[in-house]
Amino acid sequence: MLVYLNGEYLDHDRATVSVDDRGFLFGDGVYEVTRARNGRLFEPGRHLRRLGRGLEALGIAPPAGFEPEGGALAEISDRLLRDSGLVSGDALLYLQITRGAAQRTHHFPPAGTPPTVFLQANRLAVPDDVRARGATAITTPDLRWQRCDLKTVQLLPNVLAKQQAVAAGAFEAVFVRDAILTEGASTNLFAVIGGALRTHPATERILPGITREVILELANEQGLSVVEQPVAVADLSRVTELFLTSTSNDVMPVARLDGRVVGSGRPGPVARQLQAALRERLERDTAQAPAV
Ligand SMILES: Cc1ncc(COP(=O)(O)O)c(C=O)c1O
Repeated sequence: MLVYLNGEYLDHDRATVSVDDRGFLFGDGVYEVTRARNGRLFEPGRHLRRLGRGLEALGIAPPAGFEPEGGALAEISDRLLRDSGLVSGDALLYLQITRGAAQRTHHFPPAGTPPTVFLQANRLAVPDDVRARGATAITTPDLRWQRCDLKTVQLLPNVLAKQQAVAAGAFEAVFVRDAILTEGASTNLFAVIGGALRTHPATERILPGITREVILELANEQGLSVVEQPVAVADLSRVTELFLTSTSNDVMPVARLDGRVVGSGRPGPVARQLQAALRERLERDTAQAPAV
């Protein structure tokens, strides 16, 4: 399999980064995971804008071509998807940019230190079997920092939460901060309460998921009542549906939370309706998008 590293296309096994890389030493970098369908990227502009906001917040100059209007993502993903045999079906494109390799100091390295840019494409096995029956989730304290809106590679609380879920036989861990369910370890959270769709507002407490944004648009288009308001632990008894969203999971209904049945214990009508709308949008946009 081919990967892209700092301007070169390399065999996966030959691609290496420096032990001085600040991504390795400090988690000093950002990443994006973009969906590809039949060799074409879904919502690349939104991913590039989120990447741009992250780079700006970290004070990393966007590498050439990775500006929001830049063409590098399209060009590189085209080659990676083609050469990895991913021109049909679902795939994920991983992109990581770190502050680069330099002698270890906590403060920024000298101006001009080139960032490390890495991309690879992988086949996505869409978890339709879990979706059909509904996933299980657990709750766990949200131990993350105050800038969860930045998609940085510092993911230790997410890693520990996901492992806690796996150890409990669950699909996802949902973070709880100040008695509010913020989001999943790698997903955003939606609930249906009193017939209205609710999700945490896009503050610094959650990652502004691209799927979340698209789902909010689709829900509005479909005339659903939508409020960007957090779901409190105290609201859980009134929740009729709970679902998670992400680039790799689409809309994933939650059938059980901390061992308790959610709603009917089966994927609910709102989650099923939005999953169908998302899938339609994915097919439509990747059919229309210029070949990447
Ligand atoms: C913490 C967190 N929240 C939400 C998401 C979902 O974001 P997206 O829809 O852009 O994949 C992710 C994705 O990795 C995530 O890590």
